[in-house]
Amino acid sequence: MQKLRINGGHSLKGELAISGSKNAALPIMAACLLCPNEIQIENVPNLRDIKTMSLLLSHMGATIEKGTENTIKINAKNINQKFAPYDLVKTMRASIVVLGPLLARFGEAIVSLPGGCSIGARPVNLHIEGLSAMGAKIEIKNGYIHAVASELKGCEFEFNPVSVTGTANLMMAASLAKGKTILDNSAKEPEIVNLGEFLITLGANISGLGTEQIIIEGVKSLKSECFKVIPDRIEAATFLIAALITRSNLKINNLIPDHLKEPIDILRGSGAKINVSRESIDIKPPEKIKPVSFKTEPYPGIPTDIQAQLMVLNILADGHSTIHETIFENRFMHVLELQRMGADISLSRNVASIKGIKGLKSAPVMATDLRASAALVLAALAAEGETIVDRIYHIDRGYENIDKKLSSIGAMVERIES
Ligand code: EPZ
Repeated sequence: MQKLRINGGHSLKGELAISGSKNAALPIMAACLLCPNEIQIENVPNLRDIKTMSLLLSHMGATIEKGTENTIKINAKNINQKFAPYDLVKTMRASIVVLGPLLARFGEAIVSLPGGCSIGARPVNLHIEGLSAMGAKIEIKNGYIHAVASELKGCEFEFNPVSVTGTANLMMAASLAKGKTILDNSAKEPEIVNLGEFLITLGANISGLGTEQIIIEGVKSLKSECFKVIPDRIEAATFLIAALITRSNLKINNLIPDHLKEPIDILRGSGAKINVSRESIDIKPPEKIKPVSFKTEPYPGIPTDIQAQLMVLNILADGHSTIHETIFENRFMHVLELQRMGADISLSRNVASIKGIKGLKSAPVMATDLRASAALVLAALAAEGETIVDRIYHIDRGYENIDKKLSSIGAMVERIES
C-alpha cells in the first residue's frame, strides 16, 4: 500500500494545470454504451476511478483504446454482457451510471447495488424509481439490481433530494426513450451539463441543462463523435486552498472560473486576493486567514466535495467558524485525523465548530475517503515537519499525479511503498 511522505511548513510557488473532471468523465464514459460506434473522449484524467470504469466497460465487451495523453477511444459495438459485478462496483459507486445506458440501448441490465461508503449510505432509490417511471421492471435480488424494459417511455420525474448521478442515469436513459422526459429538481452541476452537452453532440435532444428542469426528447439512435471533458473544479479548489494554507502565491491554469463562483467568493471572504482570467486564477494569501462559516449545498452552492479542504483553511484561520454538511450524513471522517494534528474541532450531528489555531503539527495519518485524503495532504503541507499520509489509493481515485503536481510547485512530497 502506498503512502505520501510530506515535509510541510514552507511556502510553495509557481503554477500548475488542472486535469479533466473525474465526475464528468465517468458518466460520459458510461454514456458511450448508448452508441454502437467508436467515440473519442479528450482531457480524461489518468485516475484509479477511470481505470475502474474502463475495466467495467471492457468487462461488458466494449473496446477501450488509450490514445495520446488523456485521450481514450471507446467502442461499445459488441456489448455481450449487460452485467456490472459487485467486485468492480464496490470499488467505485459511480459504476451505477451504466444502468441507464444499458437499459436504454439493450432493454436489460444487472448491476450490483453500490452499497454505502465511508461518507454515507449512498442509496440509489431515485435511480430505480426514475427508471421504473420510464417503464423498466426492476427487482432487487441478492444485492443486484435486475432491470428489464421492452421499451423505455418518456415520463415526468422529480428528484427529491437532488441527485447528481441520478440525474445522469435518467438523462442518458431518456435520450433513447420513446417520447418526452421531464426531469424536475435535476442536478445543475457542471459535470451534468458536460454530460448533457456530450449527449447532444451524439445527437440527443436535450434542453434545460444547468437548470432544475431538464427536458429530453428521445431519439432513435446516437452517432459517434469526439468530445472534450471539462476541467475538474474540485481539484482546482483544492489547489487554491493549498496556496492559502501554505501562504503561497500560485497560478492555477486550465480551469473554468465560472464553475468556481461560490468557492472563489468564500476564499475571498477568508482574505485571499484572487485575480480571475479566462482559464486561470492567480491567488495570493492574506496576512491572516479570516474564518469562513458555510454550509454545503447542491450546485451552485458550496460543493460538499471541498468541505474537508475548506475545514483545513478554517483550522488555520484567526477565529471561530462553523461548517454544516447538508449532503451526506457522515462526511466528517477527516475530523478525527485532523484532531490528531492538533486541530480544535467539535462536532454536533452535521455541524463542525472550528476554533482557529496557530499551526498544525505533523503526525502519521490515514486517509478514509477521497476528499478527506485531500484535506490530510493539505494539512500536511501546512504542518511543520514530516507527515505520513497512509492509504493514498483513496486520493489517487480523484487527483491525477498529485505528488508530481505538488512537487512541481516546490512541495516536499514523496510517494513511498509501505
Ligand atoms: C455525486 O455523487 C459525486 N460523484 C460525489 O462526488 C458528490 O459528492 C455528490 O454527487 C454530491 O455532489 C460522482 O459524480 C461520481 P447524489 P452521487 O446522488 O451522485 C441522496 C467525489 O468525491 N440520494 O447527488 O452519488 C444521497 O444520499 C464524490 O468525487 C438519495 O437519497 O450523490 C445524498 O444525500 C463523492 N437517493 C444526496 O442524495 C438516491 O437515489 C446527494 O447524492 C440518490 C441520492
